[in-house]
Amino acid sequence: MKKTTAFLLLAALCLSLAGCAGAPNDSSTTPTPTPPQTSSLEPLEIPLAAQDHFLIGMSQCNLGEPWRVAMNDQIAAAAAKYPEFEVVFSDAAQDNSKQVSDVENFITQQVDLLIISPNEAAPLTAVVKKAFDAGIPVIVLDRRVEGDAFTSFIGGDNKQIGKKAGEWVAKTFPNGCNIVEIKGLEGATPQQERHDGFLDGLGGSSTHPIVFSQSCDWLRDKAITVMEAALQAEDKIDVVYGHNDPAAIGAYIAAKNAGRETEIQFIGIDGLPTPDGGIREVLNGTLSVTYVYPTGGEEAIESAYRLLVGEETLDKEVILETIEITAENAQEMLTKFGG
Ligand code: FRU
Repeated sequence: MKKTTAFLLLAALCLSLAGCAGAPNDSSTTPTPTPPQTSSLEPLEIPLAAQDHFLIGMSQCNLGEPWRVAMNDQIAAAAAKYPEFEVVFSDAAQDNSKQVSDVENFITQQVDLLIISPNEAAPLTAVVKKAFDAGIPVIVLDRRVEGDAFTSFIGGDNKQIGKKAGEWVAKTFPNGCNIVEIKGLEGATPQQERHDGFLDGLGGSSTHPIVFSQSCDWLRDKAITVMEAALQAEDKIDVVYGHNDPAAIGAYIAAKNAGRETEIQFIGIDGLPTPDGGIREVLNGTLSVTYVYPTGGEEAIESAYRLLVGEETLDKEVILETIEITAENAQEMLTKFGG
């Protein structure tokens, strides 16, 4: 809250006479933690109505992938701009029950705000609701939970990204092609949305069949194994649609090991500008195309600031833009994103 001295006397009167120190922002979707109460009648003795320290719990579903490391880095960098903010990170290592207990811990610690990027939707829904019902504002990042018991969702449009990838395939292979799809974790919402969007983008074409489709749980090493199976099963593979860059790169490694990488084009999603990220993989020709999937880390902290310090109400949905990265714009985008 703002340190507005003009409010102190009023606050003192209010607190001592009516004990009415309720949440200043009374939106039903964005509960705000109740500020500490005081019974002092001395205005100057009253702790500022302002709260100048906010503890934010960040529940990360997995830190094994570069994209999630980038998300945490962006959160830490954005929060460093605000001396009021202290962020505590937890890593569930792709384990739903670990992530449930991470959030339980944050509830016990009475964090002022929870940011969560849930591993899978269904198993995390109840604990997110528990935090929200306890009056902790919750920002859900990138992967969704079920229902609407959270303050704000921030993430990319996975359906649109999948659709763009499908359209790219239809345009690049006008006479048809055999597709291998290497999917993300089954219970994570981007997996379903990236799959559905891709089918939309292909437009129901019977000449563009998905001949092999399996999950690699978003992991590069597992994608190598999945692609080995696909290569065994299919003599003709023209394109691999990886639900993230590690999936596409894992598939490329398997194809290269089998001496078949030049027959196949590889599509990824994430488009990180980092040394091992997707934009460089497009530049070096490993991937034909990738889609920037913003982590939303910086936006989450900006939203937290607007809610906690600015006392603003947040939008229920904040959808972040993607960019298609091909050989044509990869260098330009790398420069733009500081890679
Ligand atoms: C990392 C990641 C990204 C992907 C996102 C989807 O865990 O797999 O590569 O784009 O999660 O939620």
